Amino acid sequence: MKNILVTGGAGFIGSAFVRYMVQAYPHYTVVVFDKLTYAGNLDNLLPVHDAPNYRFERGDIAEAPTVRRVLEQYQIDAIVNFAAESHVDRSILNSHAFLETDVIGVYVLLEQARQLGIKRFHQVSTDEVYGWIAEGAFKETDPLQPNNPYSAAKASGEMLVRAYHVTHGMHTTVTRGSNTYGPYQYPEKMMPLFITEAIDDRPLPVYGDGKQVRDWLYVDDHARAIDLVLHRGAPGEVYNVGGENEQHNIDVTRRLLRLLGKPETLIRHVADRPGHDRRYAVDCSKIKALGWQRNDDFESLLAQTVAWYQHNAWWWRKIKTGEYLEYYKQQYAQRLAEAKS
Ligand code: NAD
Ligand code: DAU
Repeated sequence: MKNILVTGGAGFIGSAFVRYMVQAYPHYTVVVFDKLTYAGNLDNLLPVHDAPNYRFERGDIAEAPTVRRVLEQYQIDAIVNFAAESHVDRSILNSHAFLETDVIGVYVLLEQARQLGIKRFHQVSTDEVYGWIAEGAFKETDPLQPNNPYSAAKASGEMLVRAYHVTHGMHTTVTRGSNTYGPYQYPEKMMPLFITEAIDDRPLPVYGDGKQVRDWLYVDDHARAIDLVLHRGAPGEVYNVGGENEQHNIDVTRRLLRLLGKPETLIRHVADRPGHDRRYAVDCSKIKALGWQRNDDFESLLAQTVAWYQHNAWWWRKIKTGEYLEYYKQQYAQRLAEAKS
């Protein structure tokens, strides 16, 4: 591999992957292809802006002519697809963009890759495609039972990847990552939303009883897992990537408040997310057999994450304007007005 196209590379996990790859593989050219939706942010790529092996192209993965031009222009050998509409709550408010990007976009990328004989195609997927599990952990061979429009779209994208491998013999791989946290995460997701709202002494809207379980994975561990599977994964295979770090939402919320030195009186129990998955857990033995290891020091990674948002208010204050405030109002105004503390 010499030239890698990272679609969605201006988002949260994609930009962590790019920052890592540009340093780890100075002999590769890393080309970011991103539509710069509300979630795409060139500030996330400032640390690599001057790197000689980094390029940026703005474009939509669902537009075949643009995708083709970029694949040809940079003589791309491998595609790593992070590009997606990624927020469950937005998919409940309006699913259209999720189908455009997470399904049609994946099809367009696959088809252009097939026509040009691209050597590797890696799809970044999610543990949400399995649905939720009361006990134990999902294995890669378990059936997919997505429960919200976001996860249904991601599962559809994955099925296309599988079909292109089986039908056309493309060298594809898939990772199903769990809830990821760290610096540069758009402040609509629980962790950065709660950290940045608490910094400003604003209420934290915990859905329902807050006893839902998420498996938290540090963003750099997720990026390394994708690198490993891109280089060493077997064609057509799927790999779970979990943090092996299950936490109740309410406990994470309390930890964040403690780290910030803010009172628990900021917590509000608000109306639940419709179709809210109760617990996610994945079995990671397959990717561990490839040599992946996660950093298991949640306490210190969480503290570092909180410190990053405290020291980088310039990054998230710019975001919390305009469209963000409209979304916030739509998602939370009524919930908070009717909340129980
Ligand atoms: P994000 O929302 O932060 O970033 C998505 C990026 O994709 C943005 O830069 C956006 O501009 C770009 N994009 C959106 N539509 C596009 C299009 N049509 N064409 C080109 N670019 C487009 O997302 P994230 O949290 O970094 O997630 C990245 C990937 O990882 C997604 O595929 C998501 O499903 C998956 N994932 C996320 C998590 C998580 O916890 N955040 C966990 C597992 C898997
Ligand atoms: O599991 C992987 C998935 O993790 C990824 O595929 C998604 O892209 C990513 O957004 C994430 O999905 P979740 O829905 O689990 O993440 P979110 O940060 O939105 O929510 C985490 C938990 O916190 C979830 O149980 C819902 C809850 N929550 C979330 C928000 C935004 C609240 O209680 N209040 C909130 O305001």
